[in-house]
Amino acid sequence: MKLWGGRFKGSVDKLMEEFNSSISFDIRLFKYDVEGSIVHAKGLNKAGVLSDDETNLIIDGLNEILKETDINHIPDDEDVHTYVERLLTEKIGDAGRKLHTGRSRNDQVATDVRLYLKDAIKDIGSDIKLLIETLQSIADEHNNTIMPGYTHLQRAQPVTFGHHMRAYVEMFKRDLSRLNDMVKRVNIMPLGSGALAGTSYNIDRRYVAELLGFDDVTLNSLDAVGDRDFVIEFLSFSSILMMHLSRFCEEIVLWSSREFDFIELDDKYSTGSSMMPQKKNPDAAELIRGKTGRVYGNLITLLTVMKGLPLAYNKDMQEDKEALFDTVDTLKICIEVFTGMIKTIHVKKSNMETAAKYGYMNATDFADYLVSKGIPFRKAHEITGKVVLYAIDKNCAIEDLSIKDLKSFCDSIDVDVYEAIDLKNSIRNKKTIGSPTLDEKEFR
Ligand code: ARG
Repeated sequence: MKLWGGRFKGSVDKLMEEFNSSISFDIRLFKYDVEGSIVHAKGLNKAGVLSDDETNLIIDGLNEILKETDINHIPDDEDVHTYVERLLTEKIGDAGRKLHTGRSRNDQVATDVRLYLKDAIKDIGSDIKLLIETLQSIADEHNNTIMPGYTHLQRAQPVTFGHHMRAYVEMFKRDLSRLNDMVKRVNIMPLGSGALAGTSYNIDRRYVAELLGFDDVTLNSLDAVGDRDFVIEFLSFSSILMMHLSRFCEEIVLWSSREFDFIELDDKYSTGSSMMPQKKNPDAAELIRGKTGRVYGNLITLLTVMKGLPLAYNKDMQEDKEALFDTVDTLKICIEVFTGMIKTIHVKKSNMETAAKYGYMNATDFADYLVSKGIPFRKAHEITGKVVLYAIDKNCAIEDLSIKDLKSFCDSIDVDVYEAIDLKNSIRNKKTIGSPTLDEKEFR
């Protein structure tokens, strides 16, 4: 069955038919297409287009179809909308042929995709929440695990592993807030916009929107059917979230290397080598980092598809679905695998602490100590630089230098300097909101 045969004399080329068809992927919208159709029938009934009997026949038929249809079976129909209408007509006859009154596949598909996305957003939102909770509980266990903090991947100042985990908590909280914020733009109903110019049937769109769970209706029919901003917004949220996961994965890969040796991944989330028997590889982290590229690709795909389109609907827009579905699937599995992987990591606390001792990470504290003795910071910086150079030459840490040695750089230096440059005190002394802190309870 075709929804548009009347105007044609000849039949469509076989390859063209295959090319044009979207059923292999838009079958995923089946449930939403049926749901939208049920409510459209109610709208037509309220508008006086369908009788009560016809409406009930359509609604019962659609509900049965929803129950009976195996969506793993891909039929020959052009798209999911054609499929649902065919199944309904086969089931209830002529009343089924009335369902498409005042509706186009253009407002229909835009509505279906929004309904699908609303569910996907809920699903992904709870995955992100679980990830945040997992990171928070790891952070709570490591409030006093001192590790090197880096800039330029050079040891910079001591932080805690808890503080490092909470940096990612902040990122994922922003992702969640972006996701929740987008709902107010996704949750607007295009149905009733027709093919591009609305419909002459007096359908109460707000009534239909309420039944479908939308907050409001779109206000311009051309925009309603020609808009995919909501998909692009989701893909852009997804790209940012994947960028965060990917940075985290990069750290996991580094940390699990022999060179860092800060963590060991659980066997559940590692793989081996077919040739090198000793290998334990962080494949989960690498794959998530790799899949980030594919999500970025989906964003660029749709931005590029949309950039040259005149109003309103164009068939190019059928390309939105694979990019969206693939992103939803990729995001879900990446967040879930990542959460499992991070939940089971073994933190090598003492290796982190040892690494924090080397690399002159208390140099800033040393300079701050001089400042506390009345020396201007710029001068203190210079003196400290010289002390570090001297210690490098002696192949030792600042705290290994004798007070006599230290005093030769600046007379104001006293034995209380050792306390001031202690790593724990370095963290303890941080005072601004957002600085790392120690959980002092543990020291009591
Ligand atoms: N399969 C199409 C899509 O996904 C549905 C809308 C088709 N509309 C049309 N007039 N050909 O975009």
